[in-house]
Amino acid sequence: MEEKKHLLEQLHDIQDADKEHHLSPKKVVELSEKHGYSPAKVYGVETFYTMYSTEPRGKHIIRICENQSCHMANAKNIIQHLEKKLETSVGGTTKDGLFTLELSSCLGMCSVSPAMMIDDVPYGNLTEDRINEIIDSYKEGK
Ligand code: FES
Repeated sequence: MEEKKHLLEQLHDIQDADKEHHLSPKKVVELSEKHGYSPAKVYGVETFYTMYSTEPRGKHIIRICENQSCHMANAKNIIQHLEKKLETSVGGTTKDGLFTLELSSCLGMCSVSPAMMIDDVPYGNLTEDRINEIIDSYKEGK
């Protein structure tokens, strides 16, 4: 268990330090060799958890919740608005590389559904106008 926790922290550190916010195959091999993990084990861990990505991503990661409470609070329309505002689909990265849009399971913010996080910052009670304000604030260099 301790070894696994340690591996998760190392993967976070590598991903956070990467300018494209992902775990490249080269970095995974380096980590495996440095600590004696099999590359298959590291790959298994990084692909199990949605917080890790094997693909390059934008500067800011938007995680929009689609679980029950958010679904009931119009998350589908909010997601569609986000896709339109960002000019990309869920799973995609904006042309300027500023945002990657991902779906998330419950963020623990059901009381303020619909909800999303941008990096580590939570946002709730989302409306189309609020989405516009939030996204524009990041574009302006929040
Ligand atoms: S269901 Fe969306 S935050 Fe809980």
